[in-house]
Amino acid sequence: MKPKVFITRQIPEAAIRKLEETCEVAVWKYEDIPVPRDVLEKEITEASGLFCMLTDSIDAALIQKANKLKVISNLAVGYNNIDIEAASEKGIKVTNTPGVLTETTADLTFALLMATARRITEASDFLRAGEWKTWSPMLLTGQDIYNRTLGIIGLGRIGEAIARRAKGFNMNVVYHNRSRKPEAEESIGLTYVSMDELLQTSDYVCIMTPYTNETKNLIHAEHFKMMKENAILINTARGGIVNEKDLYDALINGEIWAAGLDVFEEEPVPLDHPLLTLPNVVTLPHIGSASISTRSIMAEVAASDLLKAVNGETPVHLVNP
Ligand code: GLV
Ligand code: GLV
Repeated sequence: MKPKVFITRQIPEAAIRKLEETCEVAVWKYEDIPVPRDVLEKEITEASGLFCMLTDSIDAALIQKANKLKVISNLAVGYNNIDIEAASEKGIKVTNTPGVLTETTADLTFALLMATARRITEASDFLRAGEWKTWSPMLLTGQDIYNRTLGIIGLGRIGEAIARRAKGFNMNVVYHNRSRKPEAEESIGLTYVSMDELLQTSDYVCIMTPYTNETKNLIHAEHFKMMKENAILINTARGGIVNEKDLYDALINGEIWAAGLDVFEEEPVPLDHPLLTLPNVVTLPHIGSASISTRSIMAEVAASDLLKAVNGETPVHLVNP
């Protein structure tokens, strides 16, 4: 009997076909509706492999029901949606998709930084609303990017890729990380600083840490008070790393100048969320790695690691060795 695999959302066809060669594959049929909990609970009892999304909460209670499961393969680099400890206890391998999305996510992060600095969405909305009556010297003026200081909190692969882009804009790049990265400092031209110095001196503060117990609520009121009045916060990591209420207060009180957010504490972000009322907040629906090419490669990588684990081999991107 072929091992069963459950895929929690429609993914690119090629990845499904690859899994079907050796497995019995079931796919949640909707592209834009997350799989309901009861369906997931039922499927996980029978499956050898679970191919899931960052929107699926794979918690301890669910994992308890997974008696045949060998692998949870997450279509994302972040895996805060999975209880890793509970999976490890049951001997279930967890995999993610690092590396392949690095450059695409750095592109989006830089696009968001530029859009926020130069008020791109606001300007576009202004034009379409028929408000463009005349050219005017200070109309929709924003912040410069070149020659400014970018502070990166969390220098992983994506952080480094952002730093390389920033160098092309002649930015001064500083970073803070749990460990220093002398090689990146040397090859890209970065300066390691304390968290306080980063916040006090950066014109752009870019959050790039994983979301863990340690980084939950990492950026809050006292940090915004340290930041420059012209500072722009960019978050393409996870919403919960930044305290949204404190961010809102900092924006309203003019402690910082603007924010660009691809991620939120609650996703989809409720439409009545206070941050959505502010013109100086640029918002995106968690599309960091969303290029056609990268999402297809991510699906292939996740499928390939899932198959490895189902066949008793060691996946390439194993989160819990
Ligand atoms: C997306 O947010 C990811 O973690 O890949
Ligand atoms: C992800 O690939 C990271 O390490 O930043």
